Amino acid sequence: MKLWAGRFSKSTASSVDEFNASIEFDKKLYKQDILGSIAHAKMLSKQGIIPSSDASVIIDGLHQILEDIEAGKIEFKTELEDIHMNIEKLLTDRIGDVGKKLHTARSRNDQVAVDIRLYVKDAITDIQSLLMELLQALVSIAEKNTDTILPGYTHLQRAQPVTLAYHMLAYFQMFSRDHDRLSDSLKRTDSLPLGSGALAGTTYETDRDFLAKELNFSKVCPNAMDAVSDRDFAIEFISSASILMMHLSRFCEELILWSSSEFNFIEMDDAYSTGSSIMPQKKNPDIAELIRGKTGRVYGNLINILTIMKSLPLAYNKDMQEDKPPLFDTVETLKSSLPIFVAMIQTMKINKEKMYSAAKSGFLNATDAADYLVSKGIPFRECHEIIGRLVLHCIQNNKAIEELSLDELKRFSDRFEEDVYEKISIENCIAAKKSSGSTSIENVAIMIEQAKKLITKN
Ligand code: ARG
Repeated sequence: MKLWAGRFSKSTASSVDEFNASIEFDKKLYKQDILGSIAHAKMLSKQGIIPSSDASVIIDGLHQILEDIEAGKIEFKTELEDIHMNIEKLLTDRIGDVGKKLHTARSRNDQVAVDIRLYVKDAITDIQSLLMELLQALVSIAEKNTDTILPGYTHLQRAQPVTLAYHMLAYFQMFSRDHDRLSDSLKRTDSLPLGSGALAGTTYETDRDFLAKELNFSKVCPNAMDAVSDRDFAIEFISSASILMMHLSRFCEELILWSSSEFNFIEMDDAYSTGSSIMPQKKNPDIAELIRGKTGRVYGNLINILTIMKSLPLAYNKDMQEDKPPLFDTVETLKSSLPIFVAMIQTMKINKEKMYSAAKSGFLNATDAADYLVSKGIPFRECHEIIGRLVLHCIQNNKAIEELSLDELKRFSDRFEEDVYEKISIENCIAAKKSSGSTSIENVAIMIEQAKKLITKN
């Protein structure tokens, strides 16, 4: 018999049991649900709402159930709908009527809200530690490549030379903001909903601060109706996760390009590449492609949960049961993508020579050549025009700017002197960058120091 069957005169159709049930996915919350129930039983007994002897029997029973679930001894039942009722039924089957006291002063709306918050809190902490490993990997690649020069691109056209360290540290900044965003969403997730009852609070003398301490929440949700209705903490988490995946996906896209024969800047380790079933020569960057693909899944999850919530009247509505698959899928996608991405970048081979020779062609020093003429007293716009014509001349003659003789250069401007060759060398293009946050070796050294401090602080 169903735990809520009293008011019904016949049982639900079996198709309804199947359709209504969430146990297939919310069984993932068994631990959170049991911990929430243990805290609730302790609170009920501390407040004299149930005898402490009953609470002990309930708590022992719940511990036993937890052990049995973890040992794979429990089979959940679809007709019991969800994890909350499955566990409650297991408890009453095992300890008898005493188990029926557990649901005093709480509702399933309460339970599901506290379970998801506990789940999201753990997920955030786990994902943040995976992110830290990524940040660490980026710093170590940066440290080994402070003098590895490659083209920086805009519009995917060669633009100006940068170091690989600088490029990696750009991603460091993005992922450290992702880390921050997660910390921020953790603050709002870390608020206890339990003790809200169905929506209006309860008539019992409960102690929600005690519950918060027991369950390691730093505060209590101030409005019970909000506490059971709201899922914005989960939306915020998936939204931060979407931004994180967007960063990962851009990075993957670059690595895919870089590992093509057209670029040949990197080679993925065999252990992190796959082959083709028909073309024997192929070595494909499937891992990077899959992470890029899975980004769509996380964006979909965000739209999914936003849409579920968009027109729900207060308070709880069954629509909200559908919040869990997108939430779980987001956590699983991040937990599987991050470590494999880290391993992939840690093992990839970096072709420094290829990067360097790409940076040598394509007039990446053209801006520096214009800046050179500025230093000789010509206004920048004019210099831009002079160097533009000079580049066209180089293209027509298949030469780099530095391959022209001084006489040839002087045909474009009489301000060119012998020192131009040193000033527009690729190395100097990097060394001469003075603005803070630039690609110069000194600035990158500062960024590496700051990055290391951030890692040790966390
Ligand atoms: N399985 C439900 C969910 O995940 C639990 C809450 C059900 N509450 C209710 N009043 N039907 O949302």
